[in-house]
Amino acid sequence: MSKIWDLRARLYDVCEGSDLRRGPAKADLFRHMRSRALFVAVGTGLEIKRFPPGLEIVGIDISEAMLRRAEPRARRYPGPLRLLQMDAAHLGFADASFDTVVTSCTMCSVPYPVRALQELYRVLRPGGSLLMFEHVRSRNPVFGLALDLMTLWTRLSGTEMNRNTVQNVVAADFRIMSIESAYLDIVLAIRGTKDAPQKNHTQCEAQRGPRGLTHALTVR
Ligand SMILES: C[S@@+](CC[C@H](N)C(=O)[O-])C[C@H]1O[C@@H](n2cnc3c(N)ncnc32)[C@H](O)[C@@H]1O
Repeated sequence: MSKIWDLRARLYDVCEGSDLRRGPAKADLFRHMRSRALFVAVGTGLEIKRFPPGLEIVGIDISEAMLRRAEPRARRYPGPLRLLQMDAAHLGFADASFDTVVTSCTMCSVPYPVRALQELYRVLRPGGSLLMFEHVRSRNPVFGLALDLMTLWTRLSGTEMNRNTVQNVVAADFRIMSIESAYLDIVLAIRGTKDAPQKNHTQCEAQRGPRGLTHALTVR
């Protein structure tokens, strides 16, 4: 799969590099990044310019060609930013080693999204922030079907248009704090957290309700 992304790296900035692609909504989400941050699937580094300055950031990606293109952007970041080739489903970091974990158009691309999210959960410290800018399957039946059909060919180049990323985030044990729409219910800014382990598990469950989607979608 990394071979496909190595190929796509050549034209990635031409096809995906426009600031018109919801730049302000992304910047608004990324301003919540804190201290030591992990950016999962950094790609060619298009998002780096939107990160708050002075953080300690690690950007990972499976594709060497993507990372090579991200290097000059990483060098321009005003703060320490390391790039590493790594699979999101097998992160080489200790448990609870990041304050923030960030994704952007990542969960449409990784082959095992829940497995990757479980890894993000593992490396995030309790109380830390999960920040995701992702496109997902619409709950509107017409748009949902359109995205299913589009996926029949986009998946050939590594992109799934119809993932239920919100459900996957919950399945990986994150607590969702907010979901904002950047475009209909298809492009979403998702904020989540990892709860500290509770001594009294029963009481915690009673306060939170059953695991599930208790959030409301805010449409801008
Ligand atoms: C649609 S691009 C998004 C890149 C960047 N986040 C952006 O928004 O411009 C998806 C990225 O996911 C990376 N990717 C795919 N599978 C991966 C995996 N298992 N682990 C890490 N990165 C992966 C690809 O190499 C590619 O750079």
